[in-house]
Amino acid sequence: MTDAAETLSAADQAARTSTEAGPSGVAGRLVLIAGATSASGEAVARSLTAAGARVVAVGTRQDALDALAAAVPAVATRPCDLADAGAVANLATDVHESFGRVDGLIHLVGGWRGGGGLAGQSDEDWDFLERGFRTLRNTTRTFFDDLVASPAGRLAIVSSTAVENPYPGGANYAAAKAAADAWVRAVAQGFAKQAPQSAAAVFVVKALSGLEGRLGDEVVGLWAEPATDVNGRRIPLGPSPSRNPERMES
Ligand SMILES: NC(=O)c1ccc[n+]([C@@H]2O[C@H](COP(=O)([O-])OP(=O)(O)OC[C@H]3O[C@@H](n4cnc5c(N)ncnc54)[C@H](OP(=O)(O)O)[C@@H]3O)[C@@H](O)[C@H]2O)c1
Repeated sequence: MTDAAETLSAADQAARTSTEAGPSGVAGRLVLIAGATSASGEAVARSLTAAGARVVAVGTRQDALDALAAAVPAVATRPCDLADAGAVANLATDVHESFGRVDGLIHLVGGWRGGGGLAGQSDEDWDFLERGFRTLRNTTRTFFDDLVASPAGRLAIVSSTAVENPYPGGANYAAAKAAADAWVRAVAQGFAKQAPQSAAAVFVVKALSGLEGRLGDEVVGLWAEPATDVNGRRIPLGPSPSRNPERMES
């Protein structure tokens, strides 16, 4: 575990500047990356810290978190099994005491299971995928009040083109991702009613490999736009800056 105290204090300085400038931009915001140790997590952590955000990176494997902290020294790390609701509640207490209220939740826990046509959509694979979805339910339920209270709350997940174009061998995966999309739409509706300064969005990609840096830029960009322009959007993630968001159906 690292506490990244020096860097957070530099970011606190940025927070004061950001607050003085009004509720725009990511500088000084506290962003929790749920499932931060993949290549995409590292890229998002790098982009956020470079933009002046304070970042708490979460995963289950301490060695992977240590490697992330070595690669992106500005991040604070916390080990937590986000599928365990009690552990997420303890994480929230720790984060609040150590850093304060969360302004952003970037949820990257995923993973793929599938193949073998429709008959190959096993219960074991579904259990794995449902566990990933549970981490989204746990983190959003736990940090929703933070995101509502924030002057610029943001939630984002990375979904898949498989939701719109499912195929038999990926039916379990597409169904789990569709559930996550629907969950984020529900959060977006909650923000629209309770916290119009906050926003929830879904990035949509076929394959992330090679697009990690782009994802990092897009995550930072969530704070560059008014919440009403971001809330409830599905944002295709491509190699070029083709931000052409579509409003999620409600
Ligand atoms: N990769 C792609 O091509 C692709 C395509 C479409 C959509 N996506 C989506 O994009 C997102 C990021 O994908 P990715 O491939 O970069 O990463 P990933 O393999 O889905 O994993 C992301 C992170 O989740 C963490 N994690 C897993 N279970 C956890 C738990 N119970 N509690 C806390 N952390 C947990 C892992 O760390 P630990 O092992 O240390 O826990 C890992 O750092 C996912 O939502 C994925 O479904 C990816």
